[in-house]
Amino acid sequence: MKNSQNSFILYFILVSFTVISARYYVDGKRSISKSEEDDIEIERQLRVLNKKPVKIIMIKSGDIIDCIDIYKQPAFDNPLLKKHKIRISPDSIPGELTNKTISLSSLIGGLQKERCPSGTVPIRRTTKQDLVNAKNFIKKTRIIQANNTYPNAPTANQVKIIEGKQYFGGTAHMSLHDLTIYRDEFSTSQIWLLNGPQEQINNIEFGIMHDPLLFGDSRARLFGSWTADGHQTTGCYNMMCPGFVQINRGIMFGNLFQSTIYGKVSYDIHLMVHRAPISKDWWLSIGLTAETSEPIGYWPKELFTHLANSASNVRYGGFASALTRSSTPPMGNGYLPQLTDFTKTAFMFKMKYLNETGHMVNLDRRSMQIHRSTSPECYDLMLANPLGDFDITMAYGGPGGVCT
Ligand SMILES: *[C@@H]1O[C@H](CO)[C@@H](O)[C@H](O)[C@H]1NC(C)=O
Ligand SMILES: *[C@@H]1O[C@H](CO)[C@@H](O)[C@H](O)[C@H]1NC(C)=O
Ligand SMILES: *[C@@H]1O[C@H](CO)[C@@H](O)[C@H](O)[C@H]1NC(C)=O
Repeated sequence: MKNSQNSFILYFILVSFTVISARYYVDGKRSISKSEEDDIEIERQLRVLNKKPVKIIMIKSGDIIDCIDIYKQPAFDNPLLKKHKIRISPDSIPGELTNKTISLSSLIGGLQKERCPSGTVPIRRTTKQDLVNAKNFIKKTRIIQANNTYPNAPTANQVKIIEGKQYFGGTAHMSLHDLTIYRDEFSTSQIWLLNGPQEQINNIEFGIMHDPLLFGDSRARLFGSWTADGHQTTGCYNMMCPGFVQINRGIMFGNLFQSTIYGKVSYDIHLMVHRAPISKDWWLSIGLTAETSEPIGYWPKELFTHLANSASNVRYGGFASALTRSSTPPMGNGYLPQLTDFTKTAFMFKMKYLNETGHMVNLDRRSMQIHRSTSPECYDLMLANPLGDFDITMAYGGPGGVCT
């Protein structure tokens, strides 16, 4: 019955919106009071997000990290989490059996040596401008995501959602790259977990993002996002709204990565979100390998409706978009993919999903749908082992540009 279980979507897409303004409409009297309202709302959110730190850590990248009492982190301002009891580790981490001997600090910049004190967790400080940017950004992506998929823009691929099978997580190793992109552009390498009908789509997205609006520079950073209604009223990127519960004392959203040196040396990182089999929260972990990955924190099950149990759909790929310009940014490492030299291409390997008992399962090549960019000169995608039931390796990316 393998064919009836087609629900992996190798997802490779480019969307360039030029018509949808990312700014607030300012239109006469009503909008002035609207913007005042927005301002008050943003101030309120800032107070929720920026708790009094126990310790402040400044890191070289210029980020300010607040170490917040783990029980006072923003997540617990979410009414849905009023009765939530914090969990310090997932019920079990797939592959946890081996010792954690390999240090992540070689790949992850950020706190590196200095961790937050015991009982506190690191949270990248959110400024007012960050929130305004994030809001605009969400507006934009919401238009895309409200449709469950990316709409039929001339530069987008439509993704067919096939419901019917349950997935309890997704994982892959992703290569790490620096990209130079403009301020209103963003580019990701990521995994999507989705469930629900279009207007109430629940999703968790995670991976590596280049986004000057959210992060102040275009370097490769860890990101995660969630929503329970297509970003209409719930959800956000990273820690920009109450939702994600941070547990790890050293690694957080916004962490920088060491980048591959083109043609010389390739770096990659293992990323995973899995639903803890007993507590049913969605845990993010990261490591050099599956065996050594560390839990970062989790999105509690209370946040979700359709994702409260499982995902109906898992996607892997890249997404590049510009908020206002007509050209789109590079994806992956900025070069078209190839399968001969993995220091010269962006790739994912060991792409797997997690089943109900938390085991990693290989994707079956025969049940994957591949969605390529409609402009292969801008972005493309290749599979290294196109037949059979092995670990799937995918090379992807491209320079972007004016793509139609
Ligand atoms: C982990 O390390 C300890 C001590 O170094 C050792 O006794 C134990 O067997 C190791 N466990 C595994 C699963 O390798
Ligand atoms: C969904 O897509 C259609 C076109 O495919 C578009 O007209 C509609 O506005 C989109 N929905 C949202 C919320 O943007
Ligand atoms: C999950 O996968 C493991 C390993 O392949 C398998 O033994 C187990 O039966 C699977 N569990 C379910 C619920 O499918």
